[in-house]
Amino acid sequence: MAQVVAVLDFGSQYTQVIARRLRECQVYSKVYPYSTSAASFREEGVKGIILSGGPSSVLAENAPFPDRGIFQLGVPVLGICYGIQLLGYMLGGKTEPSEEREYGKGALRLTSDSPLFEGIPRRIQVWNSHGDKLTRLPPGFDSIARTENSEFSAVENPELRFYGLQFHPEVFHTERGTDIIRNFLFRICHCQGDWNMARYIDSSIAAIRQTVGTSKVILGLSGGVDSSVAAKLIHEAIGNQLTCVFVDNGLLREKERQAVEELYREHFQAHLVVADARDIFLNRLKGVKDPEKKRKIIGNTFIEVFEAEVSKIGEVEFLAQGTIYPDVIESIPIDGNPASLIKSHHNVGGLPKRMKLKILEPLNQLFKDEVRRLGEELGLPKNLVWRQPFPGPGLAVRVIGDITEERLGILRRADAILLDEITKAGLYYKVWQSFAVFLPIRTVGVMGDERTYDNVIALRIVESIDAMTADWVGLEHNLLQRISNRIINEVKGVNRVVLDISSKPPSTIEWE
Ligand code: XMP
Repeated sequence: MAQVVAVLDFGSQYTQVIARRLRECQVYSKVYPYSTSAASFREEGVKGIILSGGPSSVLAENAPFPDRGIFQLGVPVLGICYGIQLLGYMLGGKTEPSEEREYGKGALRLTSDSPLFEGIPRRIQVWNSHGDKLTRLPPGFDSIARTENSEFSAVENPELRFYGLQFHPEVFHTERGTDIIRNFLFRICHCQGDWNMARYIDSSIAAIRQTVGTSKVILGLSGGVDSSVAAKLIHEAIGNQLTCVFVDNGLLREKERQAVEELYREHFQAHLVVADARDIFLNRLKGVKDPEKKRKIIGNTFIEVFEAEVSKIGEVEFLAQGTIYPDVIESIPIDGNPASLIKSHHNVGGLPKRMKLKILEPLNQLFKDEVRRLGEELGLPKNLVWRQPFPGPGLAVRVIGDITEERLGILRRADAILLDEITKAGLYYKVWQSFAVFLPIRTVGVMGDERTYDNVIALRIVESIDAMTADWVGLEHNLLQRISNRIINEVKGVNRVVLDISSKPPSTIEWE
């Protein structure tokens, strides 16, 4: 088993980022709810504990506190932001609300030598965001760095190996932040730094085998990266105890179903069931214009179809899902937890609680790019691992307004042309998403000597890091011209192509 450093989540939007920095240092890290018991950390043999930041004040009535037993485990503890307040408050120091809220960049000056700052310049820019401030240190603690507003910006108790930082070493704006984290991991916790994807695969496979035993597992395959990587990993672990179900909801892109079938035939011999549910979905969506209603219908219908398939398979004990870490940011009950606000956005219908299956989520500690690396390590092809995101409700949210077979057909053709040209231009992996949208209006055109009254296709091409914000991409003139010409010439029923030049926010990536 890899050595684990635990990150306790007190609701900071940066908790994930801490976990990620640790893994970049090749130390395996897991995020735990703040209330996790000290006993379970002992059992797991954690090498160190990091207390994350959070929106609360330790002075507030319902402030979240960790199990006090974590301070008796004999392992190093690093408190960040809210975490340093916890150290101060719980170990006998004093915290007061700060008169000046420190927010944003500030200059940190080191005031003594500490292994935490080994190799770090005496002055660095750091990123702060906090309201409370330590005004008296707990016994055994010393200050090791200060900012203009705070004499206890970094503190240590070298004997207990407890450290606190008022600023965020995990964010990009803190100079040498990763080196500070590295010092904590290697000089203080004495981690080995031998964690990598290959080891992750080995330990996940062992864990999956142990959890599943001889039971059967079912997994809903979307054709996207996450569910495919989960399927591959689980298949490596338990072989044919896994059945994958792919639901054709009639809202897929051109040749998508065939592509999924081929891919799975080629890359793993897992048992694949393809449920053709096109008619059910499209019947239920008839006349539905409201995007949220579309999503609800699709989510519920998916559950129904999926359930029916599961019942055909018989005794299934586990439902596997490709849930990744950003999907699960623990909805810990802390008021104003910004992380939980950010995520509520796109959950695709959820999966059947009422199916009474146990959940298996082997990717739920990984970030998207880690899932991709895992996929590569497992030998999945580039065009799957680096596929652009595609929304769960599929083309339903790209045919604006009423969904009809005719409109879907037109959109599919136009989308395939756009994709073809984007791929030929070498842009497919460079942009975040590139797709066509069907607009529910007709406009006038001329073709030859005839007047036409036909449909409009919009092109949406964006770049983004995480889909939370996005910029439209300015394609070359010639390329745009080619795409437009081809769509108008090759797709019957379209006489106009427009380009979406809006960024997110205030627009969104999808049109519905
Ligand atoms: P928006 O349109 O909100 O999209 O800027 C951000 C990202 O999420 C995808 N998206 C969805 N994914 N179910 C999904 O699984 C949905 O209902 C959904 N709506 C949008 C979108 O493609 C983009 O990558």
